[in-house]
Amino acid sequence: MQDTPHTMENRVFWLTFIALVIRTEVTSANVGHVMRKRSDDPHPLEAVVSRLAQDLTQLQARVTALENAKGKRVAFLAMETTEGVKAHVPIPFSPVFNLGNGYDPQLHVFVAPYSGIYIFNFQIFCNQPGDLLVDLIKNGHIAVRMRVFDQTYNTSEASSVTQQVTSGDRFWIVFDRDVSLHNGVHSFFSGTLVSADD
Ligand SMILES: *[C@@H]1O[C@H](CO)[C@@H](O)[C@H](O)[C@H]1NC(C)=O
Repeated sequence: MQDTPHTMENRVFWLTFIALVIRTEVTSANVGHVMRKRSDDPHPLEAVVSRLAQDLTQLQARVTALENAKGKRVAFLAMETTEGVKAHVPIPFSPVFNLGNGYDPQLHVFVAPYSGIYIFNFQIFCNQPGDLLVDLIKNGHIAVRMRVFDQTYNTSEASSVTQQVTSGDRFWIVFDRDVSLHNGVHSFFSGTLVSADD
């Protein structure tokens, strides 16, 4: 016998009805069970409340951790406003913004306020062609070196690097020779705390 849409509908109706009856029975059986419990048994609600209290404690800890992480915001952008830059001294970039006050505008050095993963970027546009080494220095040692080399044209180069940083680590940029720069929008140093350690 083939199911017509009508008999299908009937079948669905009765199956739903039976399911509802069974559910009602099971629910009242549960209630009866609770009522028949011995007086020294722990109340089932106590277990629920204690589990919820545990969940709440864990959630509170996670919220606190998130609030702490949110408080650790570090990002700076410093642009070059002077033309002539001496060799082997921190390039005197001036901060445009300095979230977390990590960039020291007098020393032209970034001092990491927090440990974590940072990304640094720098771009240089020389006023004269030739060979130039541009180093990101970390605590006095070269972290990464960018070589700008074009015998014919003034050349703009940029570099970006991820660093694992301990709070107090110091970063700055140096040239290996005296340089005349295109300043303004052309040359900058920036850094961002991507992920703070706990
Ligand atoms: C390099 O820049 C300087 C200053 O803007 C300019 O006088 C010179 O012509 C440029 N040199 C080349 C090769 O473009």
